[in-house]
Amino acid sequence: MAQETAEQWDPQLYESKHAFVWQLGEGLVELLNPERGEQILDIGCGTGHLTAKIAATGAQVVGLDGSSMIEEARKNYPGNRFTVADARDFHFDEPFDAVFSNAALHWVAEARSVIECVRAALKPGGRFVAEFGGKGNIEKLVSAFYAALDSIHYPAKRNSNPWYFPGISEYSTLLEQNGLEVTFAALFDRPTPLDDGEAGMRNWIKMFAGSFYAHVPPQKQDAFVENVETVLRPVLFREGSWRIDYRRLRIAARKLL
Ligand code: BEZ
Repeated sequence: MAQETAEQWDPQLYESKHAFVWQLGEGLVELLNPERGEQILDIGCGTGHLTAKIAATGAQVVGLDGSSMIEEARKNYPGNRFTVADARDFHFDEPFDAVFSNAALHWVAEARSVIECVRAALKPGGRFVAEFGGKGNIEKLVSAFYAALDSIHYPAKRNSNPWYFPGISEYSTLLEQNGLEVTFAALFDRPTPLDDGEAGMRNWIKMFAGSFYAHVPPQKQDAFVENVETVLRPVLFREGSWRIDYRRLRIAARKLL
């Protein structure tokens, strides 16, 4: 999950209310199509659930994450290999057959550095399969954050946006410039229901939007969340639950021989 961001991760809040993050990545494991005995690297493995799913196919998987979530991954799956590293700056002595990443790379603005590390980590012909927030991801949410900051008179934090959401051509170009041939790319809407009814938006903000929320003075944090909810309720709240405006970039590439 996160690399060098301002986020403070709460593994309990992640496991209890945001399991959809890894559950929605199960289709990506199918695209990866891991085989018994393959060496696979999972970048941004978070609490390790997809790493374990890949390992269940008989592949040898290393989960990599730059955050404290990896401690939870080690507790969840003590038999698996997990390592703490920065997605922009990692190295392994032995190359991998495939590099996988779900719902993590939107936390790393330095996409070129990530791709250079991925390329170096792959065998010739090796696969890179990733999904993360793409162009237009959480657009409604981010504009509600800005509106809420304005209404609590805290506009100075408008530049708190920590996310990188590229389109197909931008990301494909980066891959091609770095010796990877794109074999599949899709950008699609994935409106995603949040758990916990009315509390869902507040949970999501606390879990993932620390760069906005944690920098609002404590006495204004409730007003910030209430403002976001008021702006978004007509568009993202239906039948008792919040539905967040996710858009995914799903991409597969192969390292040139
Ligand atoms: C996402 O999965 O698209 C996402 C998650 C947390 C923050 C921003 C985007």
